[in-house]
Amino acid sequence: MSLVLLSLAALCWGALPPEPTIQCGSENGPSPEWMVSHTLTPGDLRDLRVEPVKTTVAMEDDSILMNISWILRADASICFLKATKICVSGKSNVQSYSCVRCNYTEAFQTQTRPSGGKWAFSYTGFPVELNTLYFIGAHNIPNANMNEDSPSMSVNFTSPGCLDRVMKYKKQCIEAGDLWDPNITACKKDEKTVEVNFTTSPLGNKYMAIIQNKTVIGTSTLESPHQSNPTRASVVVLVTAESEGAVVQLTPYFHTCGYDCIRRKGTVVLCPQTGVSLPLDKSRSVLSGWLLLLPALLVATWVLAAGIYLLWRHERIKASFPASTRLPPIKVLVVYPPEMCFRHTVCDFTGFLQNHCRSEVILDKWQKKKIAEMGPVQWLTTQKKAADKVIFFLSSDMNTACDGTCGKSKGSPQEDSQDLFPLAFNLFCSDLRSQTHLHKYTVVCSTEADIRDEYSALSVCPKHCLMKEAAAFCTSLLPAEQHGPVGKGLWACHSSCSSL
Ligand SMILES: *[C@@H]1O[C@H](CO)[C@@H](O)[C@H](O)[C@H]1NC(C)=O
Ligand SMILES: *[C@@H]1O[C@H](CO)[C@@H](O)[C@H](O)[C@H]1NC(C)=O
Ligand SMILES: *[C@@H]1O[C@H](CO)[C@@H](O)[C@H](O)[C@H]1NC(C)=O
Ligand SMILES: *[C@@H]1O[C@H](CO)[C@@H](O)[C@H](O)[C@H]1NC(C)=O
Ligand SMILES: *[C@@H]1O[C@H](CO)[C@@H](O)[C@H](O)[C@H]1NC(C)=O
Ligand SMILES: *[C@@H]1O[C@H](CO)[C@@H](O)[C@H](O)[C@H]1NC(C)=O
Repeated sequence: MSLVLLSLAALCWGALPPEPTIQCGSENGPSPEWMVSHTLTPGDLRDLRVEPVKTTVAMEDDSILMNISWILRADASICFLKATKICVSGKSNVQSYSCVRCNYTEAFQTQTRPSGGKWAFSYTGFPVELNTLYFIGAHNIPNANMNEDSPSMSVNFTSPGCLDRVMKYKKQCIEAGDLWDPNITACKKDEKTVEVNFTTSPLGNKYMAIIQNKTVIGTSTLESPHQSNPTRASVVVLVTAESEGAVVQLTPYFHTCGYDCIRRKGTVVLCPQTGVSLPLDKSRSVLSGWLLLLPALLVATWVLAAGIYLLWRHERIKASFPASTRLPPIKVLVVYPPEMCFRHTVCDFTGFLQNHCRSEVILDKWQKKKIAEMGPVQWLTTQKKAADKVIFFLSSDMNTACDGTCGKSKGSPQEDSQDLFPLAFNLFCSDLRSQTHLHKYTVVCSTEADIRDEYSALSVCPKHCLMKEAAAFCTSLLPAEQHGPVGKGLWACHSSCSSL
């Protein structure tokens, strides 16, 4: 009986439609869906996460990849969901940008998985570099629903350095000795000597042991015959003060990083009391070791100084580098004339800002509720204050490029929302009169266009043409490159403002 039930159950399960999985491929350009209008679109993602993972399949130095996982919102719009597009831009020495598109193999029949729980997927790709800031943006296809609060979800992710448990497998880190476990043991043999034992690394054969409690109380270098297999090495260090409880630091010299490689630490403990006095041959070898060590000690002192300098410099570089890369995203308020196509032009542009220029975009369309609560002037003033940049987004071919979708959105949801462009322009004019916050303003044209007469005052602002100078435009948003007080065309502008 139970067998029959079981096989029935198996049949039923077999009859269920297959669960959607993902098929991902690179898609760096715009998705074909951008070109077509969709009356019904899926909502945005519920959650987006990134973590580095070590993979065995990829080539040696691409062995650390991002595991990007996302959760879909459990609402009815899920049945329009065809794909999710993920774009990653990285910022370290070089700027990188690439996108993948993950198609769902089946249409979603249910808002949650048949087994319960929300739909969740993950994609492993995009190589992770050390100490790099990444911006990961994801949006659903067809284009996100514009009545949602945010059309795409983004997270930032700063990859850790070699000390991380995953990143230490990067080739660079391995070569710097990050996988080296010297398993240091150090013990105080008597008032004057400390014995340090450690496992050597195949990466190098020169080591320096430093004993310090607050100041350096002894150093010793060891040059072991080069061995490809790790072996235990032993070095005796002469100390000038109480060594019990002091710290022993082992500084290796590897050809990839010189004296600037990873350093390992241990603690000096009392040696187990095996024999009361040292065996004769051992003490002799220790003595000859000292004699040999004297010239080495001089070198070591120099090397130590150099090492400390290098370390100090390294720390300084390390300290100053993340500070510049871990800046918060630039807050950008975008204002655009009402006749502009929202979905095809404004959305595209904000997507560009978010994905390429690591900006957080403030857009009236996404904050309709807030605008209704605060009133448009109050909202605009607050946002202008909060924003790092205010962009007047203009386009010459406003009406021609609009298709049915845009026309519709212009008729219905836009009618009830205020047109903020003239208000923003008035705010700009009063800033221009008082010469405040002017560095915040930028004009961006989607195509090569002249600023229309009625807004000619804007011509004092830095102007960028998206098609021609996208990269330069992104850099111009960075706070380091603030645009100084504007001078040119000031008078013309005054007159055109006051005529409003
Ligand atoms: C995903 O679907 C789009 C449109 O149907 C197609 O152009 C693309 O090649 C597909 N990508 C993959 C990886 O299957
Ligand atoms: C990626 O993350 C997801 C969600 O945390 C997990 O289920 C999946 O196993 C991870 N993939 C890899 C390759 O680690
Ligand atoms: C470290 O060294 C001690 C003593 O030599 C040994 O007992 C221990 O197993 C070693 N640990 C590792 C991880 O090699
Ligand atoms: C260090 O190694 C030597 C042999 O090389 C051994 O006699 C001694 O006990 C070791 N000391 C420690 C603290 O492990
Ligand atoms: C550190 O060294 C000083 C002498 O330089 C000594 O007086 C002190 O006891 C030592 N501290 C420890 C914790 O061993
Ligand atoms: C992005 O980075 C900024 C600062 O670098 C931080 O304040 C913010 O919490 C980060 N956002 C996410 C989603 O991690």
